[in-house]
Amino acid sequence: MVSVSILNGDLAHLAETADAVRQSGAELLHFDVMDGRFVDNISFGLPVLESLNAYTDMPLDVHLMIQNPLHYAERFIRAGADLLSFHIESDSDAAAVIDVIHRNGVRAGIAVSPATPVETVFPYLDLLDPEDFVLIMTVVPGLGGQSFMPETLPKMRALRAELAKRGRSLHIEVDGGINAETGRLCREAGADMLVAGSYLLKAENIADAVKTLTD
Ligand code: DX5
Ligand code: ZN
Repeated sequence: MVSVSILNGDLAHLAETADAVRQSGAELLHFDVMDGRFVDNISFGLPVLESLNAYTDMPLDVHLMIQNPLHYAERFIRAGADLLSFHIESDSDAAAVIDVIHRNGVRAGIAVSPATPVETVFPYLDLLDPEDFVLIMTVVPGLGGQSFMPETLPKMRALRAELAKRGRSLHIEVDGGINAETGRLCREAGADMLVAGSYLLKAENIADAVKTLTD
């Protein structure tokens, strides 16, 4: 499954980007929220998500890189999030955030930055449904267009092994520096949801580029 990050698209032409994503064969549109606190950068937030949700029927995969996801989760779901991920390194209690997301009927994701051991999410795995996911960041969150960090691959394998041990099914999403080559490495390591931004949006033909992530 491919999720297209629009962060590095031309944000003055968001509707055109959303159309291109819808026609590309990708299943999800990835929406990166940054608050200038959890990460230094500030991207876009609730009103932009609302407009995008009114415009496109693409499922919206919202990635909260914010300090207090518990405070905002419900509002992002009302604004249109179909999948909502938040960081384990944030100030909020992960169990409480998962509970709010589930009570509002959308899919939850726990995101893990490169410096954080993947084992920090293990205590919460039993709170997740089979359609939920762990988002393993393959770059330091904050910017699009960075290079993939291969040292994150063992985290995918460790999580798959833990899930197998528990007889659990769950999705693993990866995000940052994903292209045909790094996407393949992640899939081999157990990821099944690939977020890609600059690789797809800079491609001459997005649909062809999406295929290189799934073939
Ligand atoms: C990074 C964001 C990513 C990023 C992906 O903080 O979470 O979603 O936009 O962009 P690329 O694919 O260009 O690394
Ligand atoms: Zn993201």
